[in-house]
Amino acid sequence: FLKYNFDVTKGKIFIEWMKGATTNICYNLLDRNVNEKKLGDKVAFYWEGNEPGDSTKITYRELLHKVCQFANVLRSQGVKKGDRVSIYLPMILELVVAMLACARIGALHSVVFAGFSADSLCERILDCGCSLLITAAPAFYRGSSLKKCIVVKHLGREEIAVDGTCSKSPPLKRLCQEVQGSLQEGCKRKLLTPWNPAMDTWWHELTRGASTECEPEWCDAEDELFILYTSGSTGKPKGVLHTVGGYMIFAATSFKYVFDYQPEDVYWCTADIGWITGHSYLTYGPLANGATSVLFEGVPTYPDVSRMWSIIDKYKVTKFYTAPTAIRLLMKYGEEPVKKHSRKSLKVLGTVGEPINPEAWLWYYRVVGEERCPIVDTFWQTETGGHMLTPLPAATPMKPGSATFPFFGVVPAILSESGEELEGEAEGYLVFKQPWPGIMRTLYGKHQQFETIYFKKFPGYYVTGDGCRRDKDGYYWITGRIDDMLNVSGHLLSTAEVESALVEHAAVAEAAVVSHPHPLKGECLYCFVTLREGHEFTKNLTDELKKQGIREKIGPIATPDYIQHAPSLPKTRSGKITRRILRKIAKNDQDLGDISTLADPGIIKHLFNGRCDTN
Ligand code: PRX
Repeated sequence: FLKYNFDVTKGKIFIEWMKGATTNICYNLLDRNVNEKKLGDKVAFYWEGNEPGDSTKITYRELLHKVCQFANVLRSQGVKKGDRVSIYLPMILELVVAMLACARIGALHSVVFAGFSADSLCERILDCGCSLLITAAPAFYRGSSLKKCIVVKHLGREEIAVDGTCSKSPPLKRLCQEVQGSLQEGCKRKLLTPWNPAMDTWWHELTRGASTECEPEWCDAEDELFILYTSGSTGKPKGVLHTVGGYMIFAATSFKYVFDYQPEDVYWCTADIGWITGHSYLTYGPLANGATSVLFEGVPTYPDVSRMWSIIDKYKVTKFYTAPTAIRLLMKYGEEPVKKHSRKSLKVLGTVGEPINPEAWLWYYRVVGEERCPIVDTFWQTETGGHMLTPLPAATPMKPGSATFPFFGVVPAILSESGEELEGEAEGYLVFKQPWPGIMRTLYGKHQQFETIYFKKFPGYYVTGDGCRRDKDGYYWITGRIDDMLNVSGHLLSTAEVESALVEHAAVAEAAVVSHPHPLKGECLYCFVTLREGHEFTKNLTDELKKQGIREKIGPIATPDYIQHAPSLPKTRSGKITRRILRKIAKNDQDLGDISTLADPGIIKHLFNGRCDTN
């Protein structure tokens, strides 16, 4: 079944699971459930818009028909097996339809989170050479009628030049800006993107009259399924590539056991499909099991802070999966908004994305789950495809804040700095010793980088980039990232990508970004900027850096909480910025340890004096 080399010193890293077997993931998610399991009339998704009352549902049979129609459309637009299709849509059913239609014809989807900026979208389109972009135009955008405004844009791979321009008018970068403007201006009913007949076609026109039958493309288990970009510590996003067979079995199996899936369940995962959680545990995992899920387009605080609990009651949700940042946010409003809803349908509660502090865990357990519902704290990554460390509900004794033990087939180890495996109680680098079916196979088009990032530091192991502690009972506790990454509200960001967005501003000579604890987001960004001669550090400048610098280059999730002026940055004599010291300055922690390696220790006093007020 499984062939692999996990050791860079022994040659190329490769992982193959069931290579030579033939399948189609869309067939397994839809045709099999409709035709063999007779689940055609079962609801696949309850869709709930931001506006209460704006809702709809879709059965497995309807979903199969829609997916087939759109798969036929994609084929008629010239999309073939192996082509890349970019999807930039909000949380609407068409997003799922578009993904599964790609999977049906063997094309790779690259979903770009709709909260990302135009630059981020453009960068991702170029990196994997997408031939088509599926996105929304705002013409009539209002909740569910959004489906009337989805545009399929031909990007024509051959016309995209590496510098981000497109030989056809308009250039890709401008096009991405317009697309982003359209999506985010949403309800204003302004058609920002000029209609370009050479590129654009309406989704609803294309699908009208398209056949609801479509023969799937039979794929090898190791054929490519999708690319999903995640932040890399170099500042460039990494195109994580998953393949069909292993990903399917891993998403399906982990969904089944970790949520103790039962056929009568109504499952709700609040993650956006633009992230891996939305791929594995809102789309592929639940559908592979024939589950009924809720797909929510809105925010947890609209129209009021009890929206989540009201949705749970509305659909009688049994299994609920969300992020610590959402729990901390809702915790702030006390128990009353929760308690005014019954929540008696709930059976299992899940969390994902970042370490959960015991206080939030206990609130989730006691207030939301009334001490009836086990909590599954699931540790995993875009790269792992599915759950790696997690309790099994009601079977694993829980400890608040611990992701407990490895999932089936997962073999973790904790390594010391020198690469020794530590036994018993220990703290160090979290690694995995052998592959599991859902592990990424490469970074799209960058296999060498894949080997360097994940396998070079400790040959023979997959390196997660997270620190971890094992307690005396063998429980694993994730202590957070130990590379230059930070986790804001469950979203992984690299300090390098934020720094490079800051220094693109004409006033900024140098920037250093560190993570700072935040009561709701877990971590937030604290930035130090050194200005070029002739520029002044004003409120206007910080607003500009936040808005143009960060929001427009990366997206609102990367907006810094603090920007401090630094006449210069603390560096070692070899010129390396000492972020360790900057983190302490941000926290006003005077215990700096050894500063004898600094080129100019005098700067530290200035930086302490100029701290932003973080209280
Ligand atoms: O640092 C870990 C944290 O999120 C990182 C992976 O981020 P991403 O690829 O965006 O995927 C997020 C959703 C799976 C990890 O390296 N992380 C994720 N889940 C947990 C976590 N940290 C602690 N506990 C978790 N349950």
